Amino acid sequence: MLILGIETSCDETAAAVVEDGRIVRSNLVATQYAIHRPYGGIVPELASREHVRNIVPIVRAALEDAGVTFREIEAIAVTRGPGLIGSLLVGICYAKSLAYALSRPLLGVNHHEGHIFSVVFENPPVRHPALALVVSGGDTSLFWIPEPERYHLLGHTRDDAAGEAFDKVAKLLGLGYPGGPVIDRLAKCGNPRAVRFTIPRTSENDFDFSFSGLKTAVVRYVREREIRPVREGEAVPEVILDLLASFQETVVRTLLERLSRALEQYEARTLILTGGVACNTRLREEVFRLGKEAGIPVYVPSPPLTTDNAAMIAAAAYPKLLRGERSGWDMTAEPGLRLHQVDARRIPARSA
Ligand code: KG4
Repeated sequence: MLILGIETSCDETAAAVVEDGRIVRSNLVATQYAIHRPYGGIVPELASREHVRNIVPIVRAALEDAGVTFREIEAIAVTRGPGLIGSLLVGICYAKSLAYALSRPLLGVNHHEGHIFSVVFENPPVRHPALALVVSGGDTSLFWIPEPERYHLLGHTRDDAAGEAFDKVAKLLGLGYPGGPVIDRLAKCGNPRAVRFTIPRTSENDFDFSFSGLKTAVVRYVREREIRPVREGEAVPEVILDLLASFQETVVRTLLERLSRALEQYEARTLILTGGVACNTRLREEVFRLGKEAGIPVYVPSPPLTTDNAAMIAAAAYPKLLRGERSGWDMTAEPGLRLHQVDARRIPARSA
């Protein structure tokens, strides 16, 4: 089955053609970094306008890249939430029009489920139960997945997402947007033990995350030492390199602490790490080490499949389309759409 995937939940206009839910025939992304960079973060109105400009050419290019015509597409999958309402609506309206014009089935997909499905392309099938850590610019959530397509939320961020913390710290220090890749690169030159930030502790059965305290601690450190933002073309001073390495290490240790506790309490046969922050070198290293210690495989998609993309949306739609699931013409954007059927955050592991 050839599925056209469309993803416009945030600031990437993405289209992909996926065969039988596992073979990527094409996977294209039109990024908007240059548009949002001057503002140090995403401006929703600008994002929607860019999606309108990009959606038609990116879908055409994805079909061309896959070597298929519109007529050969057998179904259309589109992100219906969570995300920015204006951005989501562009993808949904376009997908609906196309499905109607071509008389093809249409299916709305949860963006987080897409991220979890992004591991299907490069790995053997996921063995369940699985644990999945979804770390992106918009969310940080830990799911226990007892069987395919059943999601229990173990913990999520109470304030900023991990990627948001990377982006805000980079903005504070004049390092541009998005902050994750640049901090990842610069942190390699700093001392991760130079600044001691505390990891927010929670109780035994609490897997929630919090990153705003860490962000505030970085702001305080910068003010107290009168560190000024880096200017374009200027060498990054050692004090900032050390600060970035220490900040990154604290984010990684916070994520790892929850993940290793979840591994102790919940049976898991696969560990999934996905979302834009899963590109982080230190985080990858540590999660692979954890999986090795626990004796279970770790699946982390390669960067083009772990950041926002449309192949993952088509992959998540595949088993549902096979079962005959369809979205109606009344499908609309759901900015706060949840993935989990069970909120396991307050339930002890054994009864979850
Ligand atoms: O999943 P994604 O592409 O978009 C959302 O759904 O949010 O994630 C984007 C986020 C941004 O916050 C970006 O700074 C972060 O992922 N990111 C990274 C790295 N690459 C991207 N964070 C840390 N280290 C990286 N190497």
